Amino acid sequence: MTTTPKILDGIAIAGQIKAEVASEVQALKASGITPGLVVILVGEVPASQIYVRSKVKTCGELGIYSEMLTPPESITTEEMLKLVTELNERPDIDGILIQLPLPKHVDTKRLLEAVAPDKDVDGFHPVNVGRLQSGQPGLAPCTPAGIMEVLRRSGLPVAGQNAVVIGRSDIVGKPAAMMLLNASATVTVCHSKTEDLPSFTREADLLVAAIGRPGYVTADMVKPGATLIDVGINRLTDAAEVERLFPRDADRAATFAKRGSVVVGDIEPAAFAVSGAYTPVPGGVGALTIAMLMQNTVTAAKLRRGLPVETK
Ligand code: GUN
Repeated sequence: MTTTPKILDGIAIAGQIKAEVASEVQALKASGITPGLVVILVGEVPASQIYVRSKVKTCGELGIYSEMLTPPESITTEEMLKLVTELNERPDIDGILIQLPLPKHVDTKRLLEAVAPDKDVDGFHPVNVGRLQSGQPGLAPCTPAGIMEVLRRSGLPVAGQNAVVIGRSDIVGKPAAMMLLNASATVTVCHSKTEDLPSFTREADLLVAAIGRPGYVTADMVKPGATLIDVGINRLTDAAEVERLFPRDADRAATFAKRGSVVVGDIEPAAFAVSGAYTPVPGGVGALTIAMLMQNTVTAAKLRRGLPVETK
């Protein structure tokens, strides 16, 4: 028997989270605290500019104070370290986000380690990585935290499920695996060197694809009824590739004709049809990342002042 897959609406869930964060911000403001976020965007990477503008705009909508710093591409590691040190010392700033990727000549690792762990709203500092690993309260990376919120708010089971994560990045794959493990899933992490990937993915009740390759996970790799979480955001500009991944899809073809590109995730659309539930691209996990950043900024504002933080 086949049933219609459930579409996990990331935009709607992000809306719920943002509404909750906005009311937390109002409560903090009533006691004289305004959460504050600084986003640092180095150089002129178009995709990063779009993300950063969206982060700053959302702060405004939720009542969070924000600043956007835009040092030139030529900034040195030492100059960036000085900037971060100043922000670490500012009492009005609760969150510091350094948009990645940074120019090649800048030492990303050193910079991420320079951010005060209690202002590290990206959850990238080794102290926060360690807290996540050991199950202590802290700041956790936004995209995987968003995945967990989608699962929780959609009532999808995690404990005891076979979860397979494809991708082992520090930003998504590794922390997603740790969060799923903390939620009592049986977790397998696959990556570019994994042999016979389909033999793993076909066993997955819960499949997280964070590889960055358009339509990499095909329908034959998916266990019928599985939950599919697609973290990929890939822009297609090749008409043949669009036709391969979206055969006879008039809406996509129209978008492609108009814009010269369409966005697709890491999971081919045909695979969603055999799933039990899935996050679409666009409109899935991507929408959650900013909502979780806002949540982390409020959490940082509370933790820094010794106020209680709700654990989910
Ligand atoms: N670039 C892509 N994703 C992210 C993210 O979650 N945080 C930061 N700082 N940069 C990114």
